[in-house]
Amino acid sequence: MFSESARCIVLVGAQWGDEGKGKITDVIAEQATIVARYQGGANAGHTVEVGEEQFILHLIPSGALYPSVRCLLGNGVVVDPWTLAEEVDMLEGRGIDISRRLGISWRAHLVLPYHKLLDGASETSGGVQIGTTRRGIGPAYRDKVARAGIRVCDLVDLSALRPMVVERCSWANSRLGAFGSDDRANATEIMDHLESVAPSLLTRAVDVGDEIRTALNARGRVLLEGAQGSLLDVDHGTYPFVTSSNTTAGGAAVGVGIGPTVIDEVLGVVKAYTTRVGNGPLPTELKGEEAENLRTLGGEYGATTGRPRRPGWFDGVVVRHAAAVNGLTALAVTKLDVLDSFDELKLGVAYEFDGADQGGFPARTTRLDRVVPVYETLPGWKRSTTDCRTMETLPEKARAYLRRVESVSGVPIRYVSVGSGRSQIITV
Ligand code: GDP
Ligand code: IMO
Ligand code: MG
Repeated sequence: MFSESARCIVLVGAQWGDEGKGKITDVIAEQATIVARYQGGANAGHTVEVGEEQFILHLIPSGALYPSVRCLLGNGVVVDPWTLAEEVDMLEGRGIDISRRLGISWRAHLVLPYHKLLDGASETSGGVQIGTTRRGIGPAYRDKVARAGIRVCDLVDLSALRPMVVERCSWANSRLGAFGSDDRANATEIMDHLESVAPSLLTRAVDVGDEIRTALNARGRVLLEGAQGSLLDVDHGTYPFVTSSNTTAGGAAVGVGIGPTVIDEVLGVVKAYTTRVGNGPLPTELKGEEAENLRTLGGEYGATTGRPRRPGWFDGVVVRHAAAVNGLTALAVTKLDVLDSFDELKLGVAYEFDGADQGGFPARTTRLDRVVPVYETLPGWKRSTTDCRTMETLPEKARAYLRRVESVSGVPIRYVSVGSGRSQIITV
């Protein structure tokens, strides 16, 4: 929760995404003035459950369900204008008045149809298959870094934008040809679409950094909501099997336009076990029946793509790495209830490589593919935790498991989530 000494909190996923960031953001956002996304795009799928209702948010911050929370998309987010419009309509259709509470950075880059075509084509071209969400994320960030992106502020002058779009489509179409794809982007269609969405995007365009500074100066509270997870960070994750942004806490300052000294706390969200969706190393991965069992118990299917997630045991090496690169000050452990029925649980505490201790988290994917996790086995608690609201009411064996998660990670636990509902949370 926010306190006098923590008015600006960054919330990050500390594994490979889908840790329950949406749920924890929703819980904390009750006290927030602003909730802002700082990176990623519609590749995110953040689930919030309120009563019988479930909301899956891809772009709009998970604070949206509180009528007084201002929701911002920072300059570091790549915005697909069509997905955003659909999401606004979905929320408004379900009685959530978001339209006037939503602000988008003038500097945010747009994800355009050719980015999605390129994402799909590069996945099927025979090169390294990342298993992306095909939401155009990699190609949009590539254009940004190559100084060939189109930003929200470019919509102010559509006649100056037209030749840029024509040029980008022609470049994209030559790449699509090289990938062996028959798809082609059409500049006229894209401009027609942009002309129709420009007015609503421009009415929401703001300076996100300024808004955050103003709110904090007025003693407001700001939550910066990360998407994806630390192991998907383009610098600190399992490269090249990563997303194309800095998901870690450092990315939050850059991605909304504030200085790093403004951030007071960094909350890392972890599942009580591990999952990953898409390709790439996952040292504590379960296989066969064990994987199927955990996937079924946890409902582990992607919120964006519906793909089955790859489950594994809790990996302390991963969370220690995330703690280090984010400067985590606290953990939120989610989905403890999913482990309620297990006789015993394994918890990864180290990696061995060729029979010796690997030390930290290796940079090379080929090495990660060959590390052997060292496990501790802990007894299961075999009792439902879904109604527990305090640490004292949790079974002793569940508390012992959490103590080990905490000591292996080296970060104190602040929250334990025991169900997808808003009230199913223990504050430590
Ligand atoms: P995010 O991307 O990090 O926001 O996570 P997702 O929404 O993609 O996936 C997390 C899933 O777990 C969602 O279906 C949530 O409703 C659900 N969830 C979150 N916390 C808990 C929990 O403590 N217990 C259970 N059983 N489900 C949870
Ligand atoms: P949230 O915010 C889990 C994964 C993809 C793929 C890799 C690159 O819901 O936790 P991309 O489309 O970003 O270029 O794909 O990253 N990925 C996620 N995995 N949760 C997410 O978001 C993800 N967003 C991207 O599966 O492996
Ligand atoms: Mg998700």
